[in-house]
Amino acid sequence: MPKSTYRAGITGLGVAVPDKVLTNLDLQQMVDTSDEWIRTRTGIKERRIAGPDQAASDLAVDAAGEALKNAGLRPESVDLIIVATNTPDMLMPATACMVQDRLGAANAGAFDLLAGCTGFLYALSVGHQYIASGTFETVLIIGAETLSKIINWKDRNTCVLFGDGAGAAVLERVPDNRGILSTRLGSDGSGGKHLKVPAGGSRLPASEATIQENLHYVTMNGREVFRFAVRAMGEGAMEVISMAGLTPEDINFFIPHQANIRIIETAARRVGINMNRVLVNVDRFGNTSTASIPIALYEAVKQKKIKDGQNIIMVGFGAGLTWAGLAVKWYQKQ
Ligand code: ACO
Repeated sequence: MPKSTYRAGITGLGVAVPDKVLTNLDLQQMVDTSDEWIRTRTGIKERRIAGPDQAASDLAVDAAGEALKNAGLRPESVDLIIVATNTPDMLMPATACMVQDRLGAANAGAFDLLAGCTGFLYALSVGHQYIASGTFETVLIIGAETLSKIINWKDRNTCVLFGDGAGAAVLERVPDNRGILSTRLGSDGSGGKHLKVPAGGSRLPASEATIQENLHYVTMNGREVFRFAVRAMGEGAMEVISMAGLTPEDINFFIPHQANIRIIETAARRVGINMNRVLVNVDRFGNTSTASIPIALYEAVKQKKIKDGQNIIMVGFGAGLTWAGLAVKWYQKQ
């Protein structure tokens, strides 16, 4: 008889970022902004930008290939691929299906998941359910973005914030004393208007007029998103910590969505986690949306900061508006 619940853990990670670096000094030449404004308001110094022929699936395939290699798995053993993205290659088909084909993951189902920048945590939570129920043994979760393609490079309110990149994680069954301890998903659709791409969907199909009015680009009310973010990140972190039966003192590493250093610092303070336990890379990559948490996690694992048995929480927020949290006892696959 199969067990009714299994523990799911991350057994391999991979990352792909474009080569091109865009610094704040470069941006100073493009819009009315300054390195000083961007650094003090956001903590960002530089970000990566995809080339003209580089789409989300290209970054996703590279990140996923590395994650599978690090997990010691062949693409054929993947049961399900979930790509969390706000910048799919096309409206249809799903980017996940393109990734499935190019990886040669012949036995995998595949779908995209849209939950703003929170998409990676939403996807981890979905993948976790498939492993916990015993339905699948191997799920590949990818956060992949080329936000540079849907940003108005003349709008200083948004163009300084985002960067491109992808992060991938393999989920497998792990021993009972390791793996995902708690997950929490949240949304407040009433705030959807604060962060959106108005045109190109069924409400406002792309037309000459929508292009002239720049409605196919990201529009954002930064102050409202900021207000939501600090509340959601703080409360989300507290919730997953307590659902996991832990206290803030038990948390070895806090991995917040990398949107803005002020949001990260405020959330950490509210939860009572010292900044030396918070992983930050927003300075080097900007806000890579669904890729930000897996890139930060990848770097910490690669640098051997994160060790087997340590407690980690990941918390994010994004368009929707959405937020999510997840607590995990780290399993280091040998
Ligand atoms: N350079 C110079 N000045 C700027 C820039 C810029 N790049 N951008 C805005 N300003 C100006 C504004 O026009 C404003 O000028 P005004 O006072 O004359 O009107 C002034 O700076 C202050 O603007 P604020 O909005 O008050 O600046 P704030 O301190 O709130 O910082 C920011 C703005 C960085 C956008 C902040 O609100 C923020 O980080 N919000 C959250 C955004 C976010 O995380 N979005 C991603 C969500 S995740 C997803 O799903 C994609």
